[in-house]
Amino acid sequence: MAIFPFDIHATEDRARSGTLKTPRGDIATPAFMPVGTAATVKGVYMDQVRQTGADIILGNTYHLMLRPGSERIANLGGLHKFGGWSGPILTDSGGFQVWSLSKLRKMSEEGVEFRSHIDGSKHMLSPERSMEIQAEHLGADICMQFDECTPFPATPDQARASMELSLRWGERSLAAFGNRPDQTLFAIVQGSTYEDLRAESAKLSIALGGFGGYAIGGLAVGEGHETMCQVLDVTTPHLPTDRPRYLMGVGKPIDIVEAVYRGVDMFDCVIPTRSGRHGQVWTDVGAYNIKRAEFAENDSPLDASIDCPASRDYSKAYLHHLIRSKEMLGQMILSWHNIAYFEDLMARIRAAIEAGTYSDFVAGFRTAWDQNQA
Ligand code: GUN
Repeated sequence: MAIFPFDIHATEDRARSGTLKTPRGDIATPAFMPVGTAATVKGVYMDQVRQTGADIILGNTYHLMLRPGSERIANLGGLHKFGGWSGPILTDSGGFQVWSLSKLRKMSEEGVEFRSHIDGSKHMLSPERSMEIQAEHLGADICMQFDECTPFPATPDQARASMELSLRWGERSLAAFGNRPDQTLFAIVQGSTYEDLRAESAKLSIALGGFGGYAIGGLAVGEGHETMCQVLDVTTPHLPTDRPRYLMGVGKPIDIVEAVYRGVDMFDCVIPTRSGRHGQVWTDVGAYNIKRAEFAENDSPLDASIDCPASRDYSKAYLHHLIRSKEMLGQMILSWHNIAYFEDLMARIRAAIEAGTYSDFVAGFRTAWDQNQA
């Protein structure tokens, strides 16, 4: 299988900035991947997503296999053509979404049987089926191994059993993925909050050979920001320096800033679009709701420093009105702004690493964030 070239341009302590080179285009890292679960980044045109600076988006095996069906997408030319995104796409492998969305799951060594959250129909996912859907039907550029996201909290025995199952599924994922010159497969490191298990998961995943990158799974599942940072502290040192590291499902701006500081290169999260649909506006010190009465006559834009029409060209008063009136354009503009904010944050992070000023950036960011949470 392909291992995409990963050029690291600058490092500062454990933070890195680089370029992951895929056949469908370069990805500047640290990167934030907008989530396009159902072949759409909800409420935002693909052209707009691209204009925010996003180099790659994420798709979901679980949702697309249920609706419209991955075979149908394959018949229609694959996920890039179907959804109108010509850049790289990473797909998650499905297990995590089964765990969080479906009913009546039955886990076994083989895989997981579940009922659709849409119509109750019965389905199964295994490492082999997940690879068929991601690599063959959807045509994802970066596929994820099939894994179990260890629930939090877990006892050491539960965490070990789950981590070892993910390793066996990782090995089967590699075998099923086979030799694909234009696509790559990432491992997922598990091990809950236990340092020895995280180290073992990393070491044994690396020993399997052939993974193009390493994800850190099983975080942002209720453990909290401090614990997440502690787990990253003891996990990234066990990962190869010459491959991208991806922290799955994370997160808020402060989580991203702290994770980059600990050596993470890639992120994805539904926050920008989900919170945009609820009237939330993201900034460096957290999110606020545009519905608040204080914005009713505020003529200033969301953030004039961001080079995006959503951030620059509409007044807070207008967006306040749209959201209060439940006009769909309000949700669309806020989702667009939030993605632009996250992509602008990543660009500032990359620039700080390249300038050798990232430690100062983190310290300033943390202080401002903490002051605003009080
Ligand atoms: N998304 C967030 N966390 C996880 C995880 O642990 N595994 C997978 N496959 N997806 C995730």
